[in-house]
Amino acid sequence: MTNNLLEDKSVLLGVTGSIAAYKAVDIASQLIKLGANVNVALTEAATKFITPFTFKTITGNMPYYDMWDTNAKAKEQHIELAHNADLMIIAPATASTIATLAYGMGDDSVSLCALSTGAPKLIAPAMDHQMWNNKATQENINKLIERGDTIILPEYGRLASGEFGLGRLSSVDNIIDEIKRKAGDVYGDLCGKHIVITAGGTREPLDPVRFLSNRSSGKMGFALAEAARNRGSSVTLISSVKRNSLSGVHFIETETTDQMFNEVKKATQKADALIMAAAVSDFKFKEINKDKIKDKNNDLSVNLTPNPDIIASVEKNIIKVAFAAETKDLKKYAEKKLFSKNAHFIVANDVSDPSIGFNSDNNKVTIISDKGKVINLPIMPKIEVSHAILNSLKEYF
Ligand SMILES: Cc1cc2nc3c(=O)[nH]c(=O)nc-3n(C[C@H](O)[C@H](O)[C@H](O)COP(=O)(O)O)c2cc1C
Repeated sequence: MTNNLLEDKSVLLGVTGSIAAYKAVDIASQLIKLGANVNVALTEAATKFITPFTFKTITGNMPYYDMWDTNAKAKEQHIELAHNADLMIIAPATASTIATLAYGMGDDSVSLCALSTGAPKLIAPAMDHQMWNNKATQENINKLIERGDTIILPEYGRLASGEFGLGRLSSVDNIIDEIKRKAGDVYGDLCGKHIVITAGGTREPLDPVRFLSNRSSGKMGFALAEAARNRGSSVTLISSVKRNSLSGVHFIETETTDQMFNEVKKATQKADALIMAAAVSDFKFKEINKDKIKDKNNDLSVNLTPNPDIIASVEKNIIKVAFAAETKDLKKYAEKKLFSKNAHFIVANDVSDPSIGFNSDNNKVTIISDKGKVINLPIMPKIEVSHAILNSLKEYF
């Protein structure tokens, strides 16, 4: 099974008459790269901003823009497109189209398809800030939300008029991210599960400006959160670092191990699994100076005391996944840690290799289970490593 849920999915992209219509080309192109079959419907107004020919070239499919085309191959083109769609995204969506959708009308190719499809719908509005803030638009948006459509909110920024305000089409990256998330919600193999994931190196303060930490970037934990979310799981990400924001992921920022410990304890009460990808500091300072320690020529001695063992303290009634970052005898130390943490399996990586592990976009890991199963994975992007870890996790559900 592929972990890219958009592969071979049929996505119907509705484009309407906004100045942002050109961005829909990028959306179509990215969906194609993800393996989706993309069909495009354009309103008449949209064709004033971008040509159907552009979409034909990008998608390889004939766009639908003339409801009355006597040469159309299908008997009822809108029905064929609407029924074959696994997902529909309207981007950009004008105020006018949003009103049309809210009132259940189907007097142009986009609204006709939207009215005829049973596929989940995502709508990304783009318009002037006054149009967006207009009570009529807001009421229409609320109607669509009540009916279960997903609204990808517009951004604040410079608008076509030159004014600044809320109304710009959300970034293409964010729109693609929302489409992936929706695909996970509807078609994912982890739907109904709740996974708690930790990320980053915890920081133990010595004084207001200094802390004890490690080289963990948080990339592995964030990749895991993205992968789990894209497979339909609800995700709580507890992290000491802030990276890209992941829509739909419940993010909790913590700094110290004690804070992370408290948040993990709370979040795991109602979770199905805990993946401890954070590099937790084993020690904290016994005393934290209230004021900055001043430069002195003398040596400074500090006392360290052990931090709570987060993963070991969580009951094994949920699936527990530990991480081991070792610089030598990887398998030996990882196995020892697997049992001392009372985990179901452990993900071990060799951090002595600078091309993988901390701060790298790739990782090379070995997954060792409490049942003695060992999976040696080749070097691959952290998002792929994440899917492999989730595949192992799934075996325990
Ligand atoms: C230059 C220009 C830019 C426009 N940009 C937008 C826009 O960004 N958002 C919007 O809601 N309407 C915009 N409009 C108005 C729509 O094109 C107009 O309401 C049209 O009837 C929408 O039709 P449709 O929703 O069927 O595509 C713009 C109009 C013009 C002339």
